[in-house]
Amino acid sequence: MKAKENEKTFPESESPKPENPKPENPKPENPKPENPKPESTNSQSLNSQSPEPEDPSDGPEPEKTVWVCQYQSCDRSGSAEVLEAFRQAQLPPGTRVESSGCMGQCSSGPTVRVSPDRIWYCRVKPSDVEAIVEEHLERGKPIDRLLNPRIHLRFYY
Ligand code: FES
Repeated sequence: MKAKENEKTFPESESPKPENPKPENPKPENPKPENPKPESTNSQSLNSQSPEPEDPSDGPEPEKTVWVCQYQSCDRSGSAEVLEAFRQAQLPPGTRVESSGCMGQCSSGPTVRVSPDRIWYCRVKPSDVEAIVEEHLERGKPIDRLLNPRIHLRFYY
């Protein structure tokens, strides 16, 4: 079971985009956001809300996305409550919250990633959400105590 989790693909937003099969067409038929959504790999662990963001034609493209893992290990560690706390929070304009599949940090979940800031938080609790919103999303200062040390390496001299 644990080995299977580690085999899940990383929902990287920089994945290659398919080539346009109709280069002669000057207008794209279906404008898509720059960041493709990671696909859920376990529909049972997700809540029934649609993983799709609001219709992009409804407003400007979000500047930041808070990805909250809802896959197995993170789900067992309470990531559904973390996602709900983000959804209930008063987010700054231009910020959206999305559920995601496994992000490869299963042993330190719930995992939260903020893009395009490239900030990874680990072991996030619902009570941490207010600090992330106020300090990171509003003031641009990531929460040091929540940074994933496997990604945000620290060096001591
Ligand atoms: S289950 Fe792997 S990062 Fe959440």
